[in-house]
Amino acid sequence: DVSSLILAIETSCDETSVAVVRDGHEVLSNVIASQIETHQSFGGVVPEVASRKHVENITLSIQEAVQLAGVKLQELSCIAVTQGPGLVGALLVGVVAAKSLALALDKPLIGTHHIAGHIYANRIVSPLEYPCMALVVSGGHTELVDLQEEGDFRLIGRTRDDAVGEAYDKVARALGFPYPGGPHVDKLALEASEAVELPRVWLEPDSYDFSFSGLKSAVLNAVNQSKMRGEDVQTAAIAKGFQDSVTEVLVEKAIRAVKEFGSQQLLLCGGVAANRGLRQRLSARCEQEGIPLLIPPHVYCTDNAAMIAAAAHLKWKQGAVSGLDLKADPQLKL
Ligand code: KG4
Ligand code: ZN
Repeated sequence: DVSSLILAIETSCDETSVAVVRDGHEVLSNVIASQIETHQSFGGVVPEVASRKHVENITLSIQEAVQLAGVKLQELSCIAVTQGPGLVGALLVGVVAAKSLALALDKPLIGTHHIAGHIYANRIVSPLEYPCMALVVSGGHTELVDLQEEGDFRLIGRTRDDAVGEAYDKVARALGFPYPGGPHVDKLALEASEAVELPRVWLEPDSYDFSFSGLKSAVLNAVNQSKMRGEDVQTAAIAKGFQDSVTEVLVEKAIRAVKEFGSQQLLLCGGVAANRGLRQRLSARCEQEGIPLLIPPHVYCTDNAAMIAAAAHLKWKQGAVSGLDLKADPQLKL
């Protein structure tokens, strides 16, 4: 394996993160400046505010990541950055910082796909065996990605409307929780003794796509009806009904995909991989089916730059470096 020492920058949404990683898996530092508190008062991420916060944080985060790693900037092999997808103003901050570093240090630049990062977060923890299947679940994404070989990403299913984390956050808001609401719904669902029966949206029998907006509307209706009748909202039972529906569909589609594509491993990634209901159901089903399951630790599931370095290491091995004309691309394809 080719060795590397990569400084990676991730600013696609509301975390400013900088990491220094050796050989794509040995994390020397992974600084994450979260903006959650800033956005909480708005009930969600405000793009313009996110960009400004990235500008405030980026230079200090780079300095801190380098110091914590105990390396000299000149020792770096290259500078990696999330090129997309994400909020364009947020991405631009990371991209311009990475280009400036690459230019000043005379080092190669590597543009990385955010989802490739989420998937290769698993490589930090364990070697991957191909073919493998990734279930990517976050605030912006819900995707099933087949990797027949290293770095060969094939999108086989995606959400047709809301991302799963987005649906969690909207449901949480209806139930009276602050942003980001996913963890609150998760906790409530696990404590609930009963569940409100909600629909499962499977779409066409052979489809690996997802749809969560109908389910989200069903939850909002249930909440509004209780309020109109002057009854207490069955918050816990609704949370459990919602979580049961979401996790059953995610898990069953992922298991079917693993079988159809002959995957050796199933990788769970993205911020919603923190969901305990999903972990429990997926672990149980994978055990039943004899499918090896990888789930990275929480810090590598939510947005972070170590995962970007892990994905950039593959490109470094292939010599796939970018020019200083690299453009942030909010719609970048995998
Ligand atoms: O990957 P991530 O940090 O950012 C994006 O790239 O979107 O994911 C954040 C999302 C939020 O929607 C948050 O509510 C959700 O992950 N999330 C959860 C849990 N922890 C975080 N959703 C459900 N259950 C959780 N325990
Ligand atoms: Zn993400």
